[in-house]
Amino acid sequence: MRLDVLTIFPEYLEPLRHALLGKAIEQDIIQVGVHNLREWTSDVHQAVDDSPYGGGPGMVMKPSVWGPALDDVAAGTGPAASCSDLISSVPHRLLGTSSSDAAAPRLGEESPTTKPLLIVPTPAGVPFTQDMAARWSTEKHVVFACGRYEGIDQRVVDDAANTYRVEEVSIGDYVLIGGEVAVLVMVEAIVRLIPGVLGNAASHQDDSFQNGLLEGPSYTKPRRWRGLDVPAVLLSGNHGKVERWRRDQSLLKTAARRPDLLEAAQEAGLLTKRDQQVLDAGTPLEE
Ligand code: ADE
Repeated sequence: MRLDVLTIFPEYLEPLRHALLGKAIEQDIIQVGVHNLREWTSDVHQAVDDSPYGGGPGMVMKPSVWGPALDDVAAGTGPAASCSDLISSVPHRLLGTSSSDAAAPRLGEESPTTKPLLIVPTPAGVPFTQDMAARWSTEKHVVFACGRYEGIDQRVVDDAANTYRVEEVSIGDYVLIGGEVAVLVMVEAIVRLIPGVLGNAASHQDDSFQNGLLEGPSYTKPRRWRGLDVPAVLLSGNHGKVERWRRDQSLLKTAARRPDLLEAAQEAGLLTKRDQQVLDAGTPLEE
């Protein structure tokens, strides 16, 4: 997967080089270009914003800068062509192995889409979900356009639909200073779902939201810590019992914290009769 980010603060995207994302870069599972939007300005001040038509506070980002920038990033032309991809900060443990050996086959590559996906983070966007992360994890080319100030001139987003499939997306009901942090959030959620990125392929199968429920608690050694014991069932070696206990914990936590998710799971027919008994009892049926 290729990821390109357009921003006036390229340094904000530095975390993409680290930890598992850095490893994914090193393994050539993802290629990441971070582009400074000011490279597409033509005035001496490198201005990217101007006052809003109709008045009001703040500034709006200029279409005359964003338009050519998005055209170039889609086509790999202009300043976008001379931008070097991010280099992983992860120590090079894989030297000597071919990157294609390390990269898992990608769904997006099997069914090429005509237009790249453009994601525009904005508090006025549709809420980002795990489902979107899963769908977008099979894309070939995803571009993020980071707005600042009062946002980007709407015509940029409207016009970009000629070149991209455009999604305006919010990461939550709060307002950030700009889209960069939202991009970090979305990239992490998307990239960890690409086969080969998480060490253990099963690691994300029990994720919160993956099955419509929140994930239950986890424990590791020691068995007893500060007077608190690991639940006995997890030491029983009985796989069936452990799975049922985890399911119960997941149901009860979801009921307590996210009744909206539970209701959706019920409506989607994702709950068994036994699940419903646990919820009615308000406690695990067995330990
Ligand atoms: N930009 C500012 N606030 C945002 C939010 N909540 N989600 C996505 N992008 C944003």
